[in-house]
Amino acid sequence: MSDILPSGISANTTPVNAPRVPLPTDKELVLKVVPLPKDCNANGDIFGGWVMAQVDIAGSIVPARYVQGRMATVAVNQFVFKQPVRVGDILSFFGGITRVGHTSITVDVEVYAERYDTQGQYIKVTEATLTYVAIDAQGRPRAIPREHLPAGL
Ligand SMILES: CC(C)(COP(=O)(O)OP(=O)(O)OC[C@H]1O[C@@H](n2cnc3c(N)ncnc32)[C@H](O)[C@@H]1OP(=O)(O)O)[C@@H](O)C(=O)NCCC(=O)NCCS
Repeated sequence: MSDILPSGISANTTPVNAPRVPLPTDKELVLKVVPLPKDCNANGDIFGGWVMAQVDIAGSIVPARYVQGRMATVAVNQFVFKQPVRVGDILSFFGGITRVGHTSITVDVEVYAERYDTQGQYIKVTEATLTYVAIDAQGRPRAIPREHLPAGL
């Protein structure tokens, strides 16, 4: 099934047979966004690179709280597209720190989609692990300030 979007792209409207899942309780909701027709690939699904950009932004939110200054993404350690994302899906990005090193922070990000017409039912569409490095004015790694880190990290 497809609908022709105003952009001329056919949006993929095939129903997704994916399990409905509960939202994570061990991570923080850091970003909500709705993809638009301009974010589609040639199949009418949302372009993976667009999703990756949102995940990079979402993943940086919690580390930025502790880095207190400039930081850069050094690695996308893992990235899995589990289900396609559709135009008009409501995407919720959850982030949680898994490791704090000397200059780097590693984060798990999970992305859940609600279809516009079945809100409250969530499908897990993406999961990723990214590492961010605190950098100084010259772009060199610098130590993460330890005093504000949550207990256990
Ligand atoms: C981020 C950057 C400053 C790191 O410089 P570097 O000289 O490689 O730094 P180091 O080798 O000392 O590593 C710094 C930290 O990153 C971690 N790191 C480096 N490569 C890694 C990888 N592939 N996976 C996970 N962590 C990694 C190191 O373990 C270290 O963490 P720690 O201090 O907590 O142990 C540099 O690589 C850089 O500027 N990269 C480009 C960043 C960028 O432009 N990002 C956007 C891409 S579009």
